[in-house]
Amino acid sequence: MHFMSPAKMAAVAAAEPTIPTAAVVLAAGEGTRMKSKLPKVMHAVAGRPLVQHALTTLSAEGLSPLVVVVGPGMEQVAAAVAPHKTVVQNDRKGTGHAVLQAKDVLNGFEGDVLIAFGDTPFVTAATVAKMRAARQLPNAPKVIVLGFTPPHPGDYGRLIVGADGLERIVEAKDATPEERAVRLCNSGIMLVDGKILWPLLADVGAHNAKGEYYLTDVVGLARKAGYTCGVVEGETDELMGINSRADLAKAEAVAQEQLRRAAMDNGVTLQAPETVFFSADTKLGRDVQIGPFVVFGPGVTVDDGAVIKGFCHIEGAHISSGAVIGPHARLRPGAEIGPDAHVGNFVEIKNATLEAGAKVNHLSYVGDARVGAKANVGAGTITANYDGFNKSHTDIGVGASIGSNTVLVAPVKIGDGAMTGAGAVVTKDVPANGLAINSARQENKTDFAAKYRELKRATKTKPPR
Ligand code: UD1
Ligand code: CA
Repeated sequence: MHFMSPAKMAAVAAAEPTIPTAAVVLAAGEGTRMKSKLPKVMHAVAGRPLVQHALTTLSAEGLSPLVVVVGPGMEQVAAAVAPHKTVVQNDRKGTGHAVLQAKDVLNGFEGDVLIAFGDTPFVTAATVAKMRAARQLPNAPKVIVLGFTPPHPGDYGRLIVGADGLERIVEAKDATPEERAVRLCNSGIMLVDGKILWPLLADVGAHNAKGEYYLTDVVGLARKAGYTCGVVEGETDELMGINSRADLAKAEAVAQEQLRRAAMDNGVTLQAPETVFFSADTKLGRDVQIGPFVVFGPGVTVDDGAVIKGFCHIEGAHISSGAVIGPHARLRPGAEIGPDAHVGNFVEIKNATLEAGAKVNHLSYVGDARVGAKANVGAGTITANYDGFNKSHTDIGVGASIGSNTVLVAPVKIGDGAMTGAGAVVTKDVPANGLAINSARQENKTDFAAKYRELKRATKTKPPR
C-alpha cells in the first residue's frame, strides 16, 4: 500500500473534485427593481436569458442534479431551464426559504449543495472548481462562500471574517456603519455540505430589516453549531448581481467585452470590436473577418474565412467558408449560406439555402427557398412565400439566372440553368434551361419625348406664390 503526504493528498484532491455536488439555482424573485412584466431571470444578456448562463456553466462543471427555484406562474422560466427540474416557491420569503423548497427534490442526494442565483450569470467554471477544491481539503470548512471585492460594495451583503475564518454575513440593510465599511462582499454563491444544509436552513429566522429568511444566516448558524466556514474569492465582473435595467446594461457590456476578446483570441478579425455584438452561443471559425456594426443574434455559426462586412444583422444562420455577407445584409433563422456564396446589400434571407457559389447581391427577399449552386438572383427579386395563410417553397436550380425585379410566387420551381426576364411574375414552374417572360412587350414612339416637352413648356403656368 502507498501513502501520500498530506500536501500531496490536498493537491490531488484540489485537482479532482470528487464530492458529488448538486446545485440549487434561485430564480423565484419578482425582480421588482427591473420594473418588468417579464421574470427578471428571463431578461437576456448576450442573447441568452440570465438564468441559462449560470446553468450552462454549472452543468458543464458536472454539477448534478440542477434544481431551479421559480416563483408561481413562472412557466416561462421552467420551460427555459428544462430539462432541469424546477420547484415552485409560492411565497417569496427570502433566499433561505427559497433554497428550502428544493429539499424534497434533493432527498436522498448525498454530497455538497451549491447555491447559485439566477441573477448572477457570469460565475465561471474555474471559480466553481476553486470552491469545490476548497471542500476537498482535509478539515475543509463545511460552508464555502464565494466572495468578491467590488469597487462600490453598495447593497451587497458583507462577509465578516475573523481569526477562524468566515464568521457571518450581514446584509447591507442590517449592517452597522463599521460593517458597511467592509469591502469583501457576498456574491450569493455558496457551497455547503448537504448533511448540514437542511437542518441549518430550518433554523433561519426572519428578524431583519426585510423580514425575510436569509440564506446568508446559514454562516452564523454553522459557526454556532461548531462548524468552520471559508471564503473563496472571485472577480467582480463574474459576480455582479443583476437587479435593475442599469445592471443589465452593465452586464451586457461585460459579456460583449469578453466575447469580442475571445473571438479575437481565436483568430477572428474585428475591425471595430466595440461595435460588434455577439450572442453567448456565436461560433466563429479562424480568419473570419467582421466589419463594423454587426449584430449576431442566437444560433449563428460562421466557418473559417467567411467575410461579414459592416452593418449586418444575423441570427439562426450558418455561413460557410469563403462566403461574403453584406454590407447591410440580414440573415434570419434557417439561413444556410453555402461555400463562396454572396449575399449583398439590403438582402434578407430566411429559412433558405444558398448553395455553393450562389449570389444574391442586391435588394432581395429570399425566404423558404433553395438557390442552387452558382445561380444568380438579380436585384430586387422577391420570393412571394406567404399567401396570408401558408408559407410555400421556391426552388431555384443550379446555375439558374433570375432577372432583376422578378417575383417568384411560391410554390414554384425554376429548373437548372433556366432564366427569368426582368420584372417577371413567375407563377408556373420553369423547365430546365427555359426562359420565363411575362412583362408587357415594349413599343417605341419616335420623337415622343421631344414633342411632349415642347407641349409642356408652351402650356406651363408659373407656380402660385
Ligand atoms: C443577495 C444576498 C446578498 C448578496 C447578493 C449578491 C441574501 C439575503 N442576500 O441579495 O448578501 O450580496 O444577493 O448578488 O441572500 N430569490 C428567490 N426567492 C426569494 C428571494 C430571492 O428565489 O424569496 C432569488 C432571486 O430570484 C435572485 C436571488 O434569489 O435570483 C437573489 O435575490 P435578490 O433579492 O436579488 O437578493 P439581493 O438583494 O441581491
Ligand atoms: Ca440580486
